[in-house]
Amino acid sequence: MSNLGRVCVFCNSKGGVGKSTISFLGSLSLYMIESDRQTTFVDLDSQATSITALQKFTNSRFTIETCHSYMLENGQLNAGALTQFLTGRRRNGYQVIVDMPAASRPQDLLFVGEGDFVFIPTSASDADIAATHTFLQTLLVDDRRGKTSPFIVVLPNMIDDDEDMQIIRRAFWDFPVFLGRPFSYNRDFRKIFRSRNDDTNILRALQAGSEYFTWMHSVIYGGAESRTRSSRLTII
Ligand SMILES: Nc1ncnc2c1ncn2[C@@H]1O[C@H](COP(=O)(O)OP(=O)(O)O)[C@@H](O)[C@H]1O
Ligand SMILES: [Mg+2]
Repeated sequence: MSNLGRVCVFCNSKGGVGKSTISFLGSLSLYMIESDRQTTFVDLDSQATSITALQKFTNSRFTIETCHSYMLENGQLNAGALTQFLTGRRRNGYQVIVDMPAASRPQDLLFVGEGDFVFIPTSASDADIAATHTFLQTLLVDDRRGKTSPFIVVLPNMIDDDEDMQIIRRAFWDFPVFLGRPFSYNRDFRKIFRSRNDDTNILRALQAGSEYFTWMHSVIYGGAESRTRSSRLTII
């Protein structure tokens, strides 16, 4: 186990692409796989849907943070406070999963640093692809980040078949980013935010996503091949 922490941010300016779904299930999966590590889920969405559903899983090794500590009075993200928080967590070996609200802009990602992961879910729909295209373009030209470039991974979501994957591959082929595995459409993934007395809805979703999140774990913790930057889309 590497002692260095990992920060994984799920973002896209577009809502409804799966940021909350994948980050929610990803945080629980990574918590279970990295059983010697502390996990923190940061929900920057003021609706805090994930916080309500994740509350019952919190313990000494799984903690959650609401957006309130990281918002300024004008509703903007307090990047300074968040950067400071994440620096401490990285140093202490935490894995931190950050769920960004819709309508976030690339300039809201100034807290993301070298070695961090920026996961950008998108479906194969025209509207999602167009929004993701614009978001990525701005993210890639935004040089305020200087040298601290994170790993940027487009995550195809709600994928039914290889035709959907081809649409996404074609849309992003000339972007210098990584392309993740398809996350399939599954009714069980829609039921994770329900409040129930038992956890069967979440267990079913975790089971359905287990191979996917094993892959995500290997991207975050291993695989030199997944870290080689290229000027074109690299499938990982
Ligand atoms: N792979 C999937 N299969 C089925 N439903 C999904 C999947 N991904 C997301 N959804 C559903 O799509 C909607 C939007 O997902 P959500 O994760 O809230 O997106 P975002 O956080 O990007 O706004 C939700 O109703 C969610 O349940
Ligand atoms: Mg969301």
